[in-house]
Amino acid sequence: MTIILEKKENASFHSLSSFGTEVKGIDIQQINDEEVTKLKQLLAGQGVVVIRNQLTTDTAFVCFLKRLGPLTFTVGETPVPNQPLLNVVSNVGRTSPPRSVFHTDTSYVAEPPAYTALKAIALPSTGGETLFSNQYAAYETLSPSVRQMLEGAEVLHVVSGLTLPEGEETQTWQPLYRRHPLSGKVSLYLSTPERCQRLRLFKDVLSEEKSTQVIRLLYKHSIRSRALYRHHWQPGDIVIWDNRCTLHRADHSQVVGDRILHRGLISGEAPIPHCI
Ligand code: SIN
Repeated sequence: MTIILEKKENASFHSLSSFGTEVKGIDIQQINDEEVTKLKQLLAGQGVVVIRNQLTTDTAFVCFLKRLGPLTFTVGETPVPNQPLLNVVSNVGRTSPPRSVFHTDTSYVAEPPAYTALKAIALPSTGGETLFSNQYAAYETLSPSVRQMLEGAEVLHVVSGLTLPEGEETQTWQPLYRRHPLSGKVSLYLSTPERCQRLRLFKDVLSEEKSTQVIRLLYKHSIRSRALYRHHWQPGDIVIWDNRCTLHRADHSQVVGDRILHRGLISGEAPIPHCI
């Protein structure tokens, strides 16, 4: 079995970093070690990997994800019945579209998940794409003066949108510039401003107002539309992304019909700060 790589035709790639790859000729139920290594390299370099035509069971999906690393589960999410390592992403039974803003997954814990994977279960007749930003490009396109000024900065990530039981991790400081352990590249590591509550520079915590102002500017810079990949879902799709170099959100604005995806998370390490 060989892996054939295809650049997405309609994606708007950032000129500095190519972004988003479709992998062809792969069967997740028969993947070998060499292909797993290649997938991880692709995720580190391209941020997002799409594998089409995988009409498999959740059990096969979980087995495949375990090849990428130990699975983790975000406390507060709704598990898939009989698949406690997967959670349900669904609009079924809702009277208004789910709220979705660009974020990286579970960044308020000390060791956030490295990868997230979604498997299509039911797709709407229109809409429901997933959008991804390239956080390497976000870092690379910071103006040199801003990049230098924020060198060594850390951001306080705080949980939002989930009710967690007592004793669960709810917040942590994370480096703003994160070095990817596989690619060696640096990304701008932040999440939705609601989750990024404070900024500190060399242990000096900026005021709430100043923190908000800077974080909003960095966030806006990260999600400029020209740097995004928009994934149009097809039956059988599995989409995996690397949370260390991307942000993502669902676009529910044009959804007609049920949209159900099953989601798995693969454990990661404490973010490695980039130091000059
Ligand atoms: C998520 O935010 O993890 C889910 C994205 C999606 O529903 O496309």
